[in-house]
Amino acid sequence: MIRVHVDLGLCQGFANCVMVAPEHIDLDENNKAVAVNDLFPDSDLSDLTEAAESCPAFAIRLERVEQ
Ligand code: F3S
Repeated sequence: MIRVHVDLGLCQGFANCVMVAPEHIDLDENNKAVAVNDLFPDSDLSDLTEAAESCPAFAIRLERVEQ
């Protein structure tokens, strides 16, 4: 499984991540990225990697979680 971490100090609401992976990441009321789920299946890794790499502020980090 994969967990998405957003560094709220770095996120500036560019929303590239939301455009790349709208089923995985949304913006909250403060225009900060937020993962829509706590954990995502490994099959989402490519979408999530693309989303993380799309962020100009390097605010998204992915964590592999063993279950
Ligand atoms: Fe924030 Fe980067 Fe997404 S700045 S809204 S995590 S593209």
